[in-house]
Amino acid sequence: MSQPATYPSLRDKKVLITGGATGIGAGLVEAFARQGARVAFVDVNAEAGAALAARLDPAPLFRGCDLTDVAALPGTIDSIAQALGGLDVLINNAANDDRHSIAEVTPAYWDERMAVNLRHLFFAAQAAVPHMKRAGGGAIVNFGSISWHLGLPDLVLYQTAKAAIEGMTRSMARDLGRDNIRVTTIVPGNVQTPRQEKWYTPEGEAEIVAAQCLDGRIQPADVAALALFLASDDARMCTGHDYFVDAGWR
Ligand SMILES: NC(=O)c1ccc[n+]([C@@H]2O[C@H](COP(=O)([O-])OP(=O)(O)OC[C@H]3O[C@@H](n4cnc5c(N)ncnc54)[C@H](O)[C@@H]3O)[C@@H](O)[C@H]2O)c1
Repeated sequence: MSQPATYPSLRDKKVLITGGATGIGAGLVEAFARQGARVAFVDVNAEAGAALAARLDPAPLFRGCDLTDVAALPGTIDSIAQALGGLDVLINNAANDDRHSIAEVTPAYWDERMAVNLRHLFFAAQAAVPHMKRAGGGAIVNFGSISWHLGLPDLVLYQTAKAAIEGMTRSMARDLGRDNIRVTTIVPGNVQTPRQEKWYTPEGEAEIVAAQCLDGRIQPADVAALALFLASDDARMCTGHDYFVDAGWR
């Protein structure tokens, strides 16, 4: 990106990003930090999280946590809000896109996949809302995925969870709108992250680019650019909908 936008309304905003240690999440942490926001992030990958926090100046607040343990989430979020001096923005980014066939799914694996890809988004929002209400409003940005819009193979549980996130966004936007809390979904296309490189060969990547309208690979910074807008006051009338950053992949 030649010269990324600056949003004056994001300066000093208290922002919590889930799954911020690697991939798109790390791009989000860096982008919000560059806006002068007060950034905290959580991740199960304690090593990568600590390394990212140490690399940035001023250092964002990092807390290691497993988001599938939803019973611990209110305590974690309250203590982060206390450390930041409140909470204005929640970016529900963490997920895991492990592949599986329909035949191998057990009830326990179903529950585990919903726990990592859907459940914590709701409970993080539930814990964040009282802080946002106290601040007079806020923004919750959920991460969906283009995968289910395309119907990609070997991802039935991930795609089920990601489809549900768009429905959850609409419901929450309705219930929280009068509190001036906006809820949106970002729908990324195929973003070039270290984990995605694991799934795709150069030929596979070329196929994706051929199916996009635009040439080039989407980078975490491209996704972060949309998240910054949706979290900022410039998006004050945007809620309840899904916003794609997919280079026109279909
Ligand atoms: N990269 C893509 O092409 C792409 C495409 C569509 C949607 N998305 C979505 O964008 C978001 C970010 O994707 P990404 O590619 O950066 O993923 P990633 O797997 O590279 O990073 C996810 C981060 O979440 C963390 N995490 C996973 N499980 C956790 C848990 N139980 N507790 C705490 N942290 C946990 C991981 O440690 C990691 O740092 C996800 O919601 C993903 O579904 C990504």
